[in-house]
Amino acid sequence: MSTVGILGGTGPAGQGVGIRLASAGYDVVLGSRDAERAATVAAKLSPRGTGTVTGTSNEGAAHCDVVVVATPWDSAVATVSALQEPLSGKIIVSMVNALAREGRELVPLYPPRGSMAAQIAHALPHATVVGAFHHLPASEMVTLDSGLDADVIIFGDDAVARESVATMVEAMPGLHAVIAGTMSLASAIEAFTAVCISINIRHKAHSYVKLAGLSH
Ligand SMILES: NC(=O)c1ccc[n+]([C@@H]2O[C@H](COP(=O)([O-])OP(=O)(O)OC[C@H]3O[C@@H](n4cnc5c(N)ncnc54)[C@H](OP(=O)(O)O)[C@@H]3O)[C@@H](O)[C@H]2O)c1
Repeated sequence: MSTVGILGGTGPAGQGVGIRLASAGYDVVLGSRDAERAATVAAKLSPRGTGTVTGTSNEGAAHCDVVVVATPWDSAVATVSALQEPLSGKIIVSMVNALAREGRELVPLYPPRGSMAAQIAHALPHATVVGAFHHLPASEMVTLDSGLDADVIIFGDDAVARESVATMVEAMPGLHAVIAGTMSLASAIEAFTAVCISINIRHKAHSYVKLAGLSH
């Protein structure tokens, strides 16, 4: 089974993905700017099954087989750029959304290359970037018995990498993988997160994406 590192893994998003990956049997390494903080956060997570969650530096997490980027959008490029060497040749999963709060709404920001996945791909020319996990509320992810039953929309230009991430997602409790297509969809998929969070703010909910009409 592959090991999965999560850059910025101490945040709600990284913890939510981490506990469900570990519950699928993966050995997960939460990365942080502060290895001690990551170890403390990881020790509080109790995945079900055979997988594990440990914590260390972002550099340590970058040495895993597959690496998820779960930092805030405005530090994602700097974080991955500093880890060029260990990230080279790997599948990098971006769950990063560039958003800004305006009153009761979140609005999408558009980075120069159209999406954060494209920014990260540009910063890591020797890695293969796949987008996933953008629309999932971390609160529902981290609580394993939340009843989560969500679709995870996956995109990327490399078909083999997309399939590999889809296999990982399918193994995670409460999640179904739906491959949408190529990196050209990244901007729309990331921006839709602003819609999801704005709905949740307005309706005081933790709703998530579930597509009708697909046969899983
Ligand atoms: N929260 C959600 O429900 C959710 C769902 C889907 C996708 N996402 C996306 O996932 C990403 C993380 O979300 P989050 O809510 O977990 O964010 P967050 O708590 O603000 O940040 C995650 C982690 O990133 C690290 N970090 C913070 N500032 C940094 C900086 N300047 N440089 C490097 N690392 C920094 C911190 O870890 P250390 O201090 O330990 O280094 C922090 O715990 C975002 O891009 C978000 O759009 C979030």
